[in-house]
Amino acid sequence: MDYVEILQSVGILSGIGGTLALLMSVAKNTVGNYGECNITVNDDKVLEVQGGETLLSTLIDNGIFIPSACGGKGTCGYCTAQVFEGGGEFLATEAPHITPKERENHVRLTCQVKVKRDMKIGIPEEYLSLRQYFTKVESIVDVTDKIKHLTLQLAPEDAMEFKAGQYVQILAPEYENSDEEIYRAYSICSSPDVKDKLELFIGYIPEGIATTYVHFHLKEGDDLEIIGPFGHFFYQDTDKEMVMAAIGTGLAPIMSILRYMRNHKIHRKARVFFSARHKADLYMMEELLEIQKEIPEIEYYFSLTRPEESDNWDGLRGRVTDTIPQFIEDASNMEAYLCGNNAMIDAVIATLKEKGMPEESIFYDKFE
Ligand SMILES: Cc1cc2nc3c(=O)[nH]c(=O)nc-3n(C[C@H](O)[C@H](O)[C@H](O)COP(=O)(O)OP(=O)(O)OC[C@H]3O[C@@H](n4cnc5c(N)ncnc54)[C@H](O)[C@@H]3O)c2cc1C
Ligand code: FES
Repeated sequence: MDYVEILQSVGILSGIGGTLALLMSVAKNTVGNYGECNITVNDDKVLEVQGGETLLSTLIDNGIFIPSACGGKGTCGYCTAQVFEGGGEFLATEAPHITPKERENHVRLTCQVKVKRDMKIGIPEEYLSLRQYFTKVESIVDVTDKIKHLTLQLAPEDAMEFKAGQYVQILAPEYENSDEEIYRAYSICSSPDVKDKLELFIGYIPEGIATTYVHFHLKEGDDLEIIGPFGHFFYQDTDKEMVMAAIGTGLAPIMSILRYMRNHKIHRKARVFFSARHKADLYMMEELLEIQKEIPEIEYYFSLTRPEESDNWDGLRGRVTDTIPQFIEDASNMEAYLCGNNAMIDAVIATLKEKGMPEESIFYDKFE
């Protein structure tokens, strides 16, 4: 190859390189960059936003907090809103959480819908009053070897109004196990009467982002951002006999309801089924028994699924689904409050329905 040919080859190569660089730069500035978009909320408020993010995170960035218990993973199904215009194709990832009727009604999962153009959306008015609270961690106490009891101090001007049974979402910041901040849901276990402090029970999930943060990184005195309060699972002011069932941290909203009943001297018959593996996993027992002294209409049915020799347990054995049918014959005029994992809730609902409880009398929060 002579000198001229070499120069020509170099010229061609650098031409190709330059074109590629130009194409990459154009792509960078167009793909994923949807420019400014307007989101009209409830035919009223117009948000001027930068496109490219999910509708959920765009709303959060603009101070509108939609429930998002799984932090945008598409698994909880809580982050719904109506999207009338600009939402694009309905996605396969939304299908498990949206019924055909909801779909007809324009309901979408905001964590799956991307903001790419102007949109018109509808969200329940109650969400517009949800806000951030900047709390300080007052104490962290182990109540079992896997559950921590957190007390969060709110600023006096930031008292939170909530209903017994509702939950908040905490913001776990970026840390060594997570390269992004994420929200996760935790039920409030304190009574709504105490407005300047919030208490939570947080169980450890191996490799879980938020729970690893809380169990191994969060310290007393740290700041912790939360949003809320959320949820339609809360104490109903009726005079029906109550059935409450909890496992693990599912005790949290039940504890809030029991504390509320004690504080308001609500003498209502309530049967509380709480089951755990070992005796040491039945936590908050002292306070539960104190509450019963003040409200003797409350009956406890504590049970263990795998008592150890050292537990010296001569109480009930089995899961809540084993104990409930032993003590409830006719549930047709009762009201249920259930909290635990999916499998437990589905099994208890089936048991209660068999005992005649109508679906509309069953309230529950599934934690996973
Ligand atoms: C309405 C509501 C209220 C809740 N209240 C409480 C509460 O009071 N206390 C509490 O401890 N938790 C509560 N949860 C569960 C909580 O929101 C988180 O899902 C849980 O703490 C795990 O978060 P993570 O970020 O550590 O795990 P992730 O990083 O989200 O998950 C890690 C892995 O663990 C699995 N996983 C997630 N959650 C669970 C679970 N609960 N059990 C077993 N495996 C799981 C995931 O599938 C994943 O494989 C509540 C959930 C909901 C929807
Ligand atoms: S935030 Fe959980 S499904 Fe969207």
